[in-house]
Amino acid sequence: MSGILQGKVALVTGAGHGIGRGHALELAKQGAKVVVNDLGGSAKGEGSGRVAEEVCEIIRARGGEAVPDFGDVGDEAQVEAMVQRAIDSFGRLDILVNNAGIVRDKAIWNMGADDFDLVMRVHLRGTWLTCRAAARYWRERAKAEGGKVYGRIINTTSGAGLLGNFGQSNYATAKAATVGLTLTLSVELASIGVTVNAVGPGGLTRLSAGDKALKEADQYAEDEWEPLGPKVSSPLVAWLASEEAGYVSGQVIRAIRDKIYWMHGWTEARTISNGNKPWKAEELGKRFGTEVFGVRAAGLSLGG
Ligand SMILES: NC(=O)c1ccc[n+]([C@@H]2O[C@H](COP(=O)([O-])OP(=O)(O)OC[C@H]3O[C@@H](n4cnc5c(N)ncnc54)[C@H](O)[C@@H]3O)[C@@H](O)[C@H]2O)c1
Repeated sequence: MSGILQGKVALVTGAGHGIGRGHALELAKQGAKVVVNDLGGSAKGEGSGRVAEEVCEIIRARGGEAVPDFGDVGDEAQVEAMVQRAIDSFGRLDILVNNAGIVRDKAIWNMGADDFDLVMRVHLRGTWLTCRAAARYWRERAKAEGGKVYGRIINTTSGAGLLGNFGQSNYATAKAATVGLTLTLSVELASIGVTVNAVGPGGLTRLSAGDKALKEADQYAEDEWEPLGPKVSSPLVAWLASEEAGYVSGQVIRAIRDKIYWMHGWTEARTISNGNKPWKAEELGKRFGTEVFGVRAAGLSLGG
């Protein structure tokens, strides 16, 4: 297979179903050798299975190279084994795509601490663990090879993490934190040549739509366009992983239907100053009303 990732080695987590399966197939189509990781459990994170092998068979049938990994991204030793699998199977690791995920949606008053912990474990601890394992590997190589390596990390955030969503206080927290992790690692790893970005995908998968999930990514014809299908964001992931995107780091980019959105958040919208004197709580309402929000706070006369 030839393409923009010719000769590169990628690890894609949660690549047995849905969006991650689309990423693994696209990276392989672009010439990468892929470690297809998937624990193989349910969308709520129960059980395990060998679906990663199925995706490898599809990649091999299309002329690519892939090995399965059935590890849990939340398990430290299993994550280290994933990175080692890439090195043992293909001699190196160049690209890490953190995609594995589960949901346990409930309004916060109905959510158990176990629902919070498990979602955080898969999305956040899982992403942090793989990033750490890859970072350690690339740092050692950079030291041995004179400074820089080829390294790409693509993490997965979501609209819930960027904008909030009812019933997802666990998931949104993990996905927002994934952005903080991405921004920090883009700074920490810049000097050794590793870029770190986050994508916000979309699609009707078993995770987002349950029984209304659409077909798996491999079941669409090569150029078939399904705006809510699971492979919509995969070309973006492949590009971010490519040589050409080496100047892109610390960015958050969503790919939903036929649109790509470069996201920018948390810039200073308006600033007020206390003129080097202590703030007074009783005066803040008026300052916010007149100088920040431009509205009159309830019960406040702006007349002074
Ligand atoms: N579907 C959407 O609209 C949407 C929107 C925004 C973000 N996302 C994100 O995209 C990613 C993929 O989700 P999807 O919609 O394709 O769901 P999916 O359930 O089809 O795929 C998720 C995969 O992750 C695997 N997985 C779960 N826990 C794991 C673990 N501990 N270790 C390894 N693998 C594990 C699952 O087995 C599954 O194959 C997730 O991170 C999700 O949060 C999805």
